[in-house]
Amino acid sequence: MSRKSIIHTPEEIIRIRRAARVTAEVRDRIAGAIEPGMTTAQLDDIAGAYIAEAGGTSACLGYGGFPGYICISLNEEVVHGIRSASRIIRNGDVVSIDVCVNIDGAVGDTARTVAVGEVTPDVRRLLAGTVEALDAGIAAARRGNRVGHVSAAVEKVAHRHRLGVVRDYVGHGCGISLHEPPEVPNFTGWGSGPLLEPGMVICIEPMLNLGTWKVTTDRNDHWTVRTGDGLYSAHFEHMVLITENQPEILTWPKMM
Ligand code: MF3
Ligand code: CO
Ligand code: CO
Repeated sequence: MSRKSIIHTPEEIIRIRRAARVTAEVRDRIAGAIEPGMTTAQLDDIAGAYIAEAGGTSACLGYGGFPGYICISLNEEVVHGIRSASRIIRNGDVVSIDVCVNIDGAVGDTARTVAVGEVTPDVRRLLAGTVEALDAGIAAARRGNRVGHVSAAVEKVAHRHRLGVVRDYVGHGCGISLHEPPEVPNFTGWGSGPLLEPGMVICIEPMLNLGTWKVTTDRNDHWTVRTGDGLYSAHFEHMVLITENQPEILTWPKMM
């Protein structure tokens, strides 16, 4: 049995909206700083500086012992990649950045995948398909719907683009804590899920693969999640407020 969904107060929503906005700005500044030839440790240091300049602190750093300001996952890495001074970003790579910022007692959480230089048509399909799946999930995030409607919308687009849907990691409520109930899977099959109500804030975050949905966790660092077949993966994440009417994307603008 999962815990009850969190409905945020209007006062909390003001702080959450601000935290999400700051986090989105930091996300896009980091994305703009990605250059071939740099290491992922350099990129993480840039991210740490941007988070500090924005007046926040990283909600990733130290989370369960995570040793970076942000998660940086390249190519076949799905999520939770760790900075490395020996990992060089190259043309043809895709770089997923996942940024979590604490500010003023609230937290923002947003991710995007950036193509570096020329990528193959398959990789373009992966990135465009993942964004489209996220947007479809957001459109379903309306009061009166259930979490399962969001999951179904994401899954349908993923299948249409022949992309594997990661099952071991899911979206989640967010706002005061990084991870709040409910869970927001990118796949269906466990019933329709909790009702969406105004004041809920959910992170919708499809993690889609060019090949298998299966993933493995690095045996040495115990963090880095990779596709089972080594094919590329993409990850886009927005924080969305459930309102009386249209969903409000707190980590706007829409991506790509
Ligand atoms: N940002 C991730 C999410 O979307 C959580 C990362 S936790 C960390 O839920 F420890 F890996 F940073
Ligand atoms: Co995230
Ligand atoms: Co998240």
